[in-house]
Amino acid sequence: MTRKVTKAIFPVAGLGTRFLPATKSIPKEIMTLVDRPLIQYAIDEARAAGIKEFIFVTSRGKGALEDYFDHSPVLEQELRKKGKDKLLEVLKGTNMDSGAIAYIRQHKALGLGHAVWCARRLLDPKEPFAVILPDDVIAADKPCLQQMVEAYEETGGSMVAAMEVPADKVSAYGVLDVKEDMGSSVSVKGMVEKPAPGTEPSNLAVIGRYILDPNVMKNLNKMKSGAGGEIQLTDAIADEIETDRGVYGFRFAGQRFDCGSKAGFLQATISFGLSRDDLRDELQEYLDELSAMRAAAQ
Ligand code: UTP
Repeated sequence: MTRKVTKAIFPVAGLGTRFLPATKSIPKEIMTLVDRPLIQYAIDEARAAGIKEFIFVTSRGKGALEDYFDHSPVLEQELRKKGKDKLLEVLKGTNMDSGAIAYIRQHKALGLGHAVWCARRLLDPKEPFAVILPDDVIAADKPCLQQMVEAYEETGGSMVAAMEVPADKVSAYGVLDVKEDMGSSVSVKGMVEKPAPGTEPSNLAVIGRYILDPNVMKNLNKMKSGAGGEIQLTDAIADEIETDRGVYGFRFAGQRFDCGSKAGFLQATISFGLSRDDLRDELQEYLDELSAMRAAAQ
């Protein structure tokens, strides 16, 4: 029997340099996909997977993120007065129960592994925990973390979300060396962070959803710098491979957008816009016009 996954860490302490100058004053996670900040998509996904406690690893300048999850009595009162019940309902999704959300600082951007390690005192040393990177937004019928929690009940150990990526892109990711392919899940015999082109063990790349055995935190305690001088979460997970708990990759059903990159963010904006009943027709009309104009100009 695996233990229930009830806590999730959201590492949001990165500098977001790829979105400068916007991220000079706005946290990347507050940037808006259609009408919701990236972090809201991550929180909704976590809630659907049964997460009850939300731990944010933040840094200087991320105050807007903390405010976002606060109640907003004046705004709520105003909407109530005007009978805007639908908007009030939308706002409810942004409210967190008292004590369900915790913020902890990463004082220096020493990498994802270090950010996760900063949350160590807020976790139960015997319980698995989830890690969600809000820049990876996943459109799926069943939210990705929920799919993973269900698969994890079968496998135990530590689990990373994985997806097939084209050969010329794979060196940008952590990549899995597959021991046994069981369909959606694969057992893992090795993990390489950003392999040099041509040396990758597969095209199965790790993306920003994890369910981790508490021992991964112990591995982070023995931290050493990996590729790029940062403390890599991949290394701490890879240390679990040789244990009887093991490491698994999970091929989720859904489409992942890399909203940490400008192109990925724009693609997500279009895709999420097209999936909305209130926007689809207008947006599609514009896209059709645009491609007709481009075709005519060629
Ligand atoms: P990225 O590699 O996308 O880095 O981090 P970044 O700083 O956010 O963005 P760029 O590359 O400068 O544009 C992946 C995730 O890990 C978190 C980030 O907040 C993001 O959610 N992270 C990264 C930390 O919390 N701390 C770190 O030291 C590094």
